[in-house]
Amino acid sequence: MSLSYENYLALEKYIESFEDKRGSLIIILHKAQEIFGYIPEEVQEFIGECIDLPKEKISEIVNFYSFFSTEPKGKYEIMVCLGVKCKKKGGYAILKDLEQELQIKDGEVTKDGTFRLKSVNCLGACGSAPVVVIGSTLITEADTEKIKKILHEFEK
Ligand code: FES
Repeated sequence: MSLSYENYLALEKYIESFEDKRGSLIIILHKAQEIFGYIPEEVQEFIGECIDLPKEKISEIVNFYSFFSTEPKGKYEIMVCLGVKCKKKGGYAILKDLEQELQIKDGEVTKDGTFRLKSVNCLGACGSAPVVVIGSTLITEADTEKIKKILHEFEK
């Protein structure tokens, strides 16, 4: 999943297979996301050129549907709550520890594509703060050691 020349070629070939290219835009966008893992500006522009539609129109659609992403996603998303309660109980320190552990900043994806780290506002479990979610696993009363152990499970 990268913005490689081969991937652009594969997408172009796919687009060419449609007679009604503009009418097939949503399907084409799904394919683009499957190929690249996300649909950044440059891919939106490329699709626009292929189907002769302004990039702005493509962006409108990509941004409208929540299942399309303009940013790379990791295999697992790590959400660190920085809501009021979680921040008070060490949420920010957990985020900084994870940035160091994974060698990425908030919002970035690890080099191997396994994790994406993201701070969020409230995960709705304030009574168990600080809270972190990895994939679909909710970690309550989280601390860095607890999270690291669980991270290793995901890496297997
Ligand atoms: S503030 Fe963290 S779960 Fe609500």
